[in-house]
Amino acid sequence: YNHVYGKGKWKDFDQKDLLLSYNALKVLEARYLLKDPNTLRYIETPQMMFRRVAKFLSNVEKIYGKSEEEIHHIEEKFYEKMSELKFLPNTPTLMNSGTRLGILSACFVLPVKDSMTTSQGDGIYDTLRAMALVHQQGGGTGFDFSELRPKGDIVASTAGVASGPVSFMKIFDVSTDVVKQGGKRRGANMGVMHVWHSDIEDFIHAKTGQLKDVQLQNFNISVGVYDYFMDKVEKGEEVPLITPRKTKIPGTDHDYYIVKARNYMNEEWVQEEILSELEEKGSVYLDESKIVTVDEALYIAEKEGAIIRWINARTIFDEIVKGAWDGGDPGLLFIDEINRRHPVWYLGKIQATNPCGEEPLLSWESCNLGSINLEKFVKGEEKVYVDWDGLADTIKYAVRLLDNVIDANRYPLKQVEDGTKRTRKVGLGVMGLARMLIKLGIPYDSVDAVYFSYQLSKFIYYHAFKASIELAREKGSFPAYDPTRYREIWDSSRPFDYLLSVTGINETPSTRIKELTKIVDSLDFSALKKDRITFGLRNSTVVSIAPTGTISIIAGTSSSIEPLFALAFIRNVAVGKFMEIDPLFLDYLRRYELDNSEVVKKVAETGTVAENPFMPSTIRKLFRTAHEVSPEFHVLHQAAWQQWNDSGTSKTINLRTEEPPETVEKVYMIAWKLGIKGITIYRDKSKSQQVIYFGIKK
Ligand code: CDP
Repeated sequence: YNHVYGKGKWKDFDQKDLLLSYNALKVLEARYLLKDPNTLRYIETPQMMFRRVAKFLSNVEKIYGKSEEEIHHIEEKFYEKMSELKFLPNTPTLMNSGTRLGILSACFVLPVKDSMTTSQGDGIYDTLRAMALVHQQGGGTGFDFSELRPKGDIVASTAGVASGPVSFMKIFDVSTDVVKQGGKRRGANMGVMHVWHSDIEDFIHAKTGQLKDVQLQNFNISVGVYDYFMDKVEKGEEVPLITPRKTKIPGTDHDYYIVKARNYMNEEWVQEEILSELEEKGSVYLDESKIVTVDEALYIAEKEGAIIRWINARTIFDEIVKGAWDGGDPGLLFIDEINRRHPVWYLGKIQATNPCGEEPLLSWESCNLGSINLEKFVKGEEKVYVDWDGLADTIKYAVRLLDNVIDANRYPLKQVEDGTKRTRKVGLGVMGLARMLIKLGIPYDSVDAVYFSYQLSKFIYYHAFKASIELAREKGSFPAYDPTRYREIWDSSRPFDYLLSVTGINETPSTRIKELTKIVDSLDFSALKKDRITFGLRNSTVVSIAPTGTISIIAGTSSSIEPLFALAFIRNVAVGKFMEIDPLFLDYLRRYELDNSEVVKKVAETGTVAENPFMPSTIRKLFRTAHEVSPEFHVLHQAAWQQWNDSGTSKTINLRTEEPPETVEKVYMIAWKLGIKGITIYRDKSKSQQVIYFGIKK
């Protein structure tokens, strides 16, 4: 190891290992630490793993002509942030850096064209192969299946009938099972179908009723909806169901209208997209008056037989809601919101996201993620405060590390490499929000907490964006950067008061919370924009809120922006029963001299204290768990983090078992109005299994 890590250096590794919890060590030893393939003995400790990642990712700076000394400094910074558990990159980066497996990104979106194979490699079976390659190395894949012709449609080459998108999804699902990601990580997929597709009802029901614990178990599914559709839901009006096959009508331009009919075209981003598309084609339609209205497009679509039937939008929406209530699927993707707030909207329309929804991507794009452990930035004993400077420094190096991943990555396919390097998307996220709030004494389900989320995400976005500008100065902008067409997301971020007004909460943040976050009010976003125009931008997106299912266990903190799941629980393992208790909660029990085994045992039975009349009210308020937090506050946190985020926000709106379908309906509607990009609910005990296992707790 002297050779790899520098003489004698490995000797001080063990000190930092003491920061790791028992659960962290278990996860690391089971899946992350490298083993000798012959003897199966470990060949690294956790610190050696962090060193491996730091070394591998700092080394790529050589491409940019950095000196040995500069590279060494960067390596030390990367190592410091990871080993102090202030920041961790996503699982594939931790597992694969410097090894033979080269995929370091967690998120991929692959195209699926309505053909067995194509010369571009985006036919159904081409994509199946691409998916297998990604899964093998620990990445997750998302697909839009809307281009596939509906069930019963004609297959010209064989004069047979098509089996429809859902049957093809089943093949993808089986392949996922078989590959099992090299034994280290189960494959995860997102399957999307847009609401205009004539098989949409089959899709909505693909994981409900008797099928819910049986079919498409490696898929999360989401319906892509539009503002047009949501308006019709509110009004109880009809929407068309369209077959994607009727878009190639030889000798006419009608296909153009039909595609536009599917896009519903009521948004300015689509109109600009049409214009540039036409310009590129040198088409006769260059005249602006040819931007057709929804009605015009629908008229042509109807005339050409592309519209299979009309259906009340309410009927579809109710089925979606029922499905989600029944088993968690489908979720919704708000396609207009995704594209309106896609900074490089001029590259095309986003149709799908990665498995957990935090990365809306164009086809062939991939994104690597990494998350900051917020808990580490609460300082002070008597008077607690946020270490904003420490946070800014960590953000700076985190963005550099994530950007380096793009260069260090070995891509499974040329198309993915091209798609990824064109936009250089990275996703800096967070973990430990719930624990940070507890340390600051702010209950998760309070207006103050939502305000804090809003301000904190604004701070993180500002500094991540700034870091990306600085990297552009040093290394150049992402190739597809267009300084005039690039769209800053903060021009359309909703104000905090708006978020509250949508949920009907009539309360203002306290002076204490305003004081605590006042540094954020002085950030100058217009100066930032000027810098972006002067110096360029390294990454087309910089932030993304991932679930941090495993890396939060390694960091020993609560996952992502979620509330605590349980305060204490009993774990059955081979050698016996263990009681596990949240260390922060134990601290509080100590303060009130309640840290005796009887109390802890009682808490472990239910995992919560909110309804325990013998607990001090401070503890009861501060330690609300996921099912005790009302759906409104779940959604509000998601909305707050989405306003300062150029990608998506992964969040599970956890509902109690007894919540009726109306709650799901309300949550989905509010989510749309709050400008969230995608929404998923999960009603407690509604399924016997989860698609993704978040660590070892479940
Ligand atoms: O904590 P970790 O880095 O392991 O991952 P995460 O934040 O829970 O998930 C991030 C992304 O990794 C997901 O959205 C998926 O794209 C991918 N993932 C996967 O492919 N398979 C899994 N079993 C878990 C996550």
